[in-house]
Amino acid sequence: MILVTSATGNVGGHLVRQLHESGFAVRAMTRDSSRASVPAGVEVVEGDLEAPASLGEVFDGISGFFVSGTTGDLPGLLGTASAAGVKRVVLVSSFLARTHPESAIGGGSLEAERLVRKSDLEETVLRPWEYASNVTAWAEGIRAEGAVRPPTAGLPSPVVHPADIASLAAHALTEEGHGGQTYPLTGPEELTPRDKVRALGEALGRELVCEERPDQRELERISEQAPDEATAGLMVPGVCSLRSPGVTDTVERVTGSPARSFGQWAAENAHLFR
Ligand SMILES: NC(=O)c1ccc[n+]([C@@H]2O[C@H](COP(=O)([O-])OP(=O)(O)OC[C@H]3O[C@@H](n4cnc5c(N)ncnc54)[C@H](OP(=O)(O)O)[C@@H]3O)[C@@H](O)[C@H]2O)c1
Repeated sequence: MILVTSATGNVGGHLVRQLHESGFAVRAMTRDSSRASVPAGVEVVEGDLEAPASLGEVFDGISGFFVSGTTGDLPGLLGTASAAGVKRVVLVSSFLARTHPESAIGGGSLEAERLVRKSDLEETVLRPWEYASNVTAWAEGIRAEGAVRPPTAGLPSPVVHPADIASLAAHALTEEGHGGQTYPLTGPEELTPRDKVRALGEALGRELVCEERPDQRELERISEQAPDEATAGLMVPGVCSLRSPGVTDTVERVTGSPARSFGQWAAENAHLFR
């Protein structure tokens, strides 16, 4: 059985469904099972990543598990998993571990990678670039006034569909040959915030406005207080220079299917912006 932590999250939700549809037994972990929406046949367990000592039973009968990012007590989690006889772990790190190791996200992700590498589990590290789903930060502005006002509208970024991160995780958790691998992954094309707004408008069937708003105080606020937003299409030139790493072929190479486009993500999630 495979354990998916952060099962209600951007990647975890897709991973639960994909593994289940491929016929694998799945245990989905959340802190609040009343909020988990999983296919019939998936086992739901409550658990807190901050309290790994309480997760012994959650790991019962688990062959491999999925961890999204640096939330919680990772050393404790790895120790509990190892003691329960778990064989594999797949960690979602970040592309910034390679391109921006000095940033909070890059540095934290590198440390998480170091921890899984030194565990006695067979580990696979995924380093995704910016998630397509980060544009949900624009939902309020789109609903209220049909407008998006990013600090820069022209910087390209190969955003990745969370379902592709999940597909990679599913392969790594269920096949031989991914142990010790680090997979940098992006979407199939580089899109600017303006391109993404256009794609969202097409999915919504309405024209949206994209206005660059280079507000220096806002840029500093984002970089200091909410570094995650810096990957949300709210690029911060000179402060957190998120120059595109280019497009990687990892998704297609590992999963055998082309990487999903931002347009696909927008069509699947248009309801979030209505
Ligand atoms: N967003 C990006 O562009 C991007 C890009 C590259 C890498 N990443 C990395 O991806 C990681 C997370 O991505 P995300 O923000 O999209 O989050 P996410 O994977 O969607 O995870 C959020 C989920 O984590 C669970 N969670 C949070 N705290 C928990 C706890 N103490 N115990 C158990 N579960 C807990 C929550 O589940 P419940 O509320 O149901 O318990 C929630 O559903 C970050 O580390 C980030 O560096 C993100």
